[in-house]
Amino acid sequence: MTQYLRMVLTLLTGFAVARLDVADDTTVLRSAAHVHSRDGVSLTAKSTPADLGSHKLLVGSAGQLRGIDFDGTVFTPRENALVEESGKAASWMIFKEPNLLYAVDENSDQVRLFAYDPEVGALTGEPRPFTGTPGAVHLALTQDQKRLIASSYGKGAVDIWDSSAADGTLQLIKTIMLVGAPGPDTAVQTQLRAHQGVADPTGRFVVVNDLGGDMIHVLDAAADSYSISNVVKTDPGCGPRHGGFLQLDGGAQATHYVVVCEISNMVQLFSVSYGDTTAGLTYKHVHAVSTFGAAFPPVNATSARAGELLIAKSGAIYVSNRLTGNQTDSISHFALEAKSNDDTTPQLVFKSGVSSGGVGPRMMSWSHDEEVMFVANMNGVNGLVALKKDSTTGVLDGVPLGVLTNEAFAPDLPVGQGFGPMFVQEVA
Ligand SMILES: *[C@@H]1O[C@H](CO)[C@@H](O)[C@H](O)[C@H]1NC(C)=O
Ligand SMILES: *[C@@H]1O[C@H](CO)[C@@H](O)[C@H](O)[C@H]1NC(C)=O
Repeated sequence: MTQYLRMVLTLLTGFAVARLDVADDTTVLRSAAHVHSRDGVSLTAKSTPADLGSHKLLVGSAGQLRGIDFDGTVFTPRENALVEESGKAASWMIFKEPNLLYAVDENSDQVRLFAYDPEVGALTGEPRPFTGTPGAVHLALTQDQKRLIASSYGKGAVDIWDSSAADGTLQLIKTIMLVGAPGPDTAVQTQLRAHQGVADPTGRFVVVNDLGGDMIHVLDAAADSYSISNVVKTDPGCGPRHGGFLQLDGGAQATHYVVVCEISNMVQLFSVSYGDTTAGLTYKHVHAVSTFGAAFPPVNATSARAGELLIAKSGAIYVSNRLTGNQTDSISHFALEAKSNDDTTPQLVFKSGVSSGGVGPRMMSWSHDEEVMFVANMNGVNGLVALKKDSTTGVLDGVPLGVLTNEAFAPDLPVGQGFGPMFVQEVA
């Protein structure tokens, strides 16, 4: 990493970022694959020298929404936090202080409000449903928490909810229908598909990753208009799914945006500018790389579908690979590095990869201290997997701290056939 990028990352994070180089990625991947063989090789939880504390997690899966504790080694479902909801899927949730939990049901047109007590981790059953656009798969709160943005994969639309009421009651302000032509993939891109809304750091804009249309729609939140002020094209057939803003100069505005393409299995990096009075936010394509490291291709590149993208405070970027055909799927880790000594343009550089511990890692998230990554594997033997992140290198340890098998989520199904967690998040 050059001095320049090291400096900007230091500004970004407030502390020095050490070298992110990795000595031997191969070892990491091989050992992980060995440990998580599907055919019953037993899992040895790693002994934990550091105190990795207690974490209260919320986990959504098909038909279940529940609280699970993680003590650094063992996942324990909490008795006071289990909601059975046959036919529904809380594939995304968001917590709002002091005790409000919103959850999508991607199988219907409802956003649900649950009561969640963060002190004891109790989740109260009977939700209050609010009717919006069907097929929402993601929720985001604006910075002031007064608006809730729900992205509908099913309809290619974004619901803007007023979430300012103290009791959590939602009022639908408006529905923004995305506009444009779908991308070239005839299987998935049959229509526009809003997969995620991301609020920019200034609070003025929300950008919507449109998996069906290979577009990133810029919505201007001024005066609750949320009108589409700009449309950024990704590469055709990308299928932009999840992304995030970066502030590489440590300022209040974003400097870059990074997004993972579900269909083409690429990570794309854009620079971001705020100058244009009409567009509001403009993007310039900077760089793109495969979600797979050169040495770790998928068994089946045709079926592979990237999933989550997660950014660390250090600026490191993590992406999940799904449907790879490998025994278990994987998580790739990238850093931004200057192109050359003379050209400080940031480039995406593959740093390391590990097994996700299971199959179909749809989502992953950090513990509050970012020491642990929680992975939600929808299939395979292992459902929830906790991976330790090296605080210096950003490399994930391929031997999990702890694992909860998918039997815990779908008790009626044989091991390995389960329909496991879709969402996991440590909650206040
Ligand atoms: C998937 O399997 C292939 C073939 O065995 C292997 O070369 C590759 O490293 C594996 N990829 C990952 C990400 O584990
Ligand atoms: C790879 O995936 C494609 C698409 O899902 C499937 O049609 C094909 O049979 C798979 N190939 C192998 C060798 O499994």
